[in-house]
Amino acid sequence: MINLRGITQIYPGPQGPVEALRGIDLHVTPGEVFGIIGRSGAGKSSLVRVINLLNRPTSGQVMVAGRDMTQLSDADLRAARREIGMVFQHFNLLSSRTVFDNAALPLELAGMPRAEIKKRIDPLLDLVGLAHLADRYPAQISGGQKQRVGIARALASNPKVLLSDEATSALDPETTRSILDLLRQVNREMGVTVVLITHQMQVIKQIADRVAVIDAGRIVEMGPVVDVFTRPQQDITKSLIDEIVPQELPAGVLARVRSLAARLEPGASGQLLRLSYAGEHAYEPILSHLIRELGLDLSILHGQIDEIQDQTFGSLAVYASGNMARIGAAIDYLRANGVVVRTVEVTG
Ligand SMILES: Nc1ncnc2c1ncn2[C@@H]1O[C@H](COP(=O)(O)OP(=O)(O)OP(=O)(O)O)[C@@H](O)[C@H]1O
Ligand SMILES: [Mg+2]
Repeated sequence: MINLRGITQIYPGPQGPVEALRGIDLHVTPGEVFGIIGRSGAGKSSLVRVINLLNRPTSGQVMVAGRDMTQLSDADLRAARREIGMVFQHFNLLSSRTVFDNAALPLELAGMPRAEIKKRIDPLLDLVGLAHLADRYPAQISGGQKQRVGIARALASNPKVLLSDEATSALDPETTRSILDLLRQVNREMGVTVVLITHQMQVIKQIADRVAVIDAGRIVEMGPVVDVFTRPQQDITKSLIDEIVPQELPAGVLARVRSLAARLEPGASGQLLRLSYAGEHAYEPILSHLIRELGLDLSILHGQIDEIQDQTFGSLAVYASGNMARIGAAIDYLRANGVVVRTVEVTG
């Protein structure tokens, strides 16, 4: 659906050129929710604005629905943009227009007759849950409701793609959840491909199928959300995930590991393990196997079980003690059963 190849974006700046994008290759498949996450200044907005050519890239190719956007005439570009809706962080509503008229704006600009506009916008306001507020003005509705207007407006011209640039960043967590649910519904029921930009892993966790991590104008990590959560590779990814799954263990846990290590029987070994898994695996039978069959002692020190969309996602810290070779066998067994295992050395 969207194919970016070798995208660079260089802005002129007072202190010289700013390289906002440094060679981005990205492929978004039809019907998916693709998340792009990164810290402030990483290049997220620059990237999303390249997709509908709100920003013309300095170099590279932008293919959307089979068309090379950079090669289109102005008229063809306007037509192509109708197939790409966009939702903004600060809603960008016109204060002098009602909810209905804000949502209808793209159709008015395209010259659609009023009766047809109504036929299109009424069901959209229904979809976003605002039919009863159609005659209100932006000043008379909440932030979450404003974003619903923004979504209805973005969907007005029946786009194939919806771009969302921090659409929930100005909203509280509960409203964020309801807006993300709405975007997911639009994706599933209308088949709209969604590209969503955020700085919050919570947002990625709730809605994205795949995620790309962008840092200093480059994509540094990309994959299905569950994979990236269970096996983050880059430090930046780990620090972003930290918001949901603490990557560092609390000091109290480390102190317990030291005291367990100090009490090991002569000849016994101990190893702190961080385990994570996703999907239908359950820890319990796997851990009891380790205790029963390998004769290890396991102390569960820390952990949480969460959901990524419909998948269970767990993370545990355990201290295994016993025969050193058996600890090695336990790690192999865990890995063979789909658990991601990291060994952690505790010093001091
Ligand atoms: N129009 C512009 N002119 C010059 N530099 C710009 C322009 N727009 C963005 N930049 C610079 O490009 C880099 C990437 O900016 P961008 O807005 O894409 O980041 P972002 O990831 O969206 O950040 P945020 O999370 O704060 O919105 C930053 O260093 C920014 O200062
Ligand atoms: Mg931005």
